[in-house]
Amino acid sequence: MIKANYSSLCSSSSSTKKGALSMLLLTYVLLLLWRAASNPFPINTPLTRTQMEDLFRAYAPYLYLHPDEEYLPSSVDWFFSNGALLYKKGEESRPVRIEPGGTNLPKGGDPAGLYWLDLPADKGGRDRVSQGHIASAEAYVHFKPGVENGMFTDIQVWMFYPFNGHTSAKIWFIKRVSLGRAGEHVSDWEHVTLRVRNVDGVLDKVYFSQHGGGKWVDASLLQFESGNRFAWYSSRNGHAGNNETGLYLQGPGYGFGIRNDWARSNKVVDTGARFVVVASEGEAEAVAEPPWLSYESKWGPTKKYGTIVEVRRVRKFLLGKLKKLLDKLVKVIDEVYGTNGPAGPKVKNNWNGNEA
Ligand SMILES: *[C@@H]1O[C@H](CO)[C@@H](O)[C@H](O)[C@H]1NC(C)=O
Repeated sequence: MIKANYSSLCSSSSSTKKGALSMLLLTYVLLLLWRAASNPFPINTPLTRTQMEDLFRAYAPYLYLHPDEEYLPSSVDWFFSNGALLYKKGEESRPVRIEPGGTNLPKGGDPAGLYWLDLPADKGGRDRVSQGHIASAEAYVHFKPGVENGMFTDIQVWMFYPFNGHTSAKIWFIKRVSLGRAGEHVSDWEHVTLRVRNVDGVLDKVYFSQHGGGKWVDASLLQFESGNRFAWYSSRNGHAGNNETGLYLQGPGYGFGIRNDWARSNKVVDTGARFVVVASEGEAEAVAEPPWLSYESKWGPTKKYGTIVEVRRVRKFLLGKLKKLLDKLVKVIDEVYGTNGPAGPKVKNNWNGNEA
């Protein structure tokens, strides 16, 4: 555990004034102690960049992919240099390659949806890039000093996946039903947020992103390893984060739902060993932001399939009541995954302000 530094008190004393100085010092220390005891809140001192980096290294999560995961994370630059393409509306036949760091990506808002990224156009390239490249994967770190009235620092840890695989469902007694392409999309940005108490550097809680939403988990409910490092489980295909392994069904209930499967495997990213600080707010020293961070258009194309069409094959075999439940599930899938391509970190709700 890393603790904030406190400056020590020093006194230079001459022989004649020694007594008076000691008294003064004693009074000062007593005054400090009294203030600390009577003040119900810790002293709000924003952490420095070095302190925040030390804290991140101390708590940095291990990202565990599912043993059957086909769509692994990669670095953003691996995605760019392995054939990712930038498309512009009206010029679909002439996509362009992306320069290292994303220097040729457009910047700023794009409400008209003029631009989007996509996998390489050829089948071989699409398959290869969609599988990601775990050896290149790295965490993109965003420091938010002074959240919760300046008492905490949020350390956001972002992970990039070139592809989000289709969903599977549990339909009553059928454990795993593949739902065609339902839920698929190009590019997937996921993150965890470490909330650290400024006064003593203690990790308070962690936020895990899950399909557009997420959950806060108290630090006492994390699985720690190698000291203060914790496990960040990524669900199969959808990459929703979690503090524990297991299965969670999202949907209408009655044993019906989208599967979120979390498990340990040897596919793991040590975020403490591979990270880049991409942004820092507040008074801490500025960070050189990579150009791709200012790309605010979509990281994938608009979905071209209809979820209802994708599940038709499965629907045929279900009896009336189960058909209705499947239709409810389709609604859930469309709400959870949407139809637009995914947004980059800066465009997501939780980049600014207090993460809720
Ligand atoms: C993970 O967090 C949940 C709360 O979201 C909690 O109920 C559960 O017990 C935690 N798991 C472990 C292994 O502590």
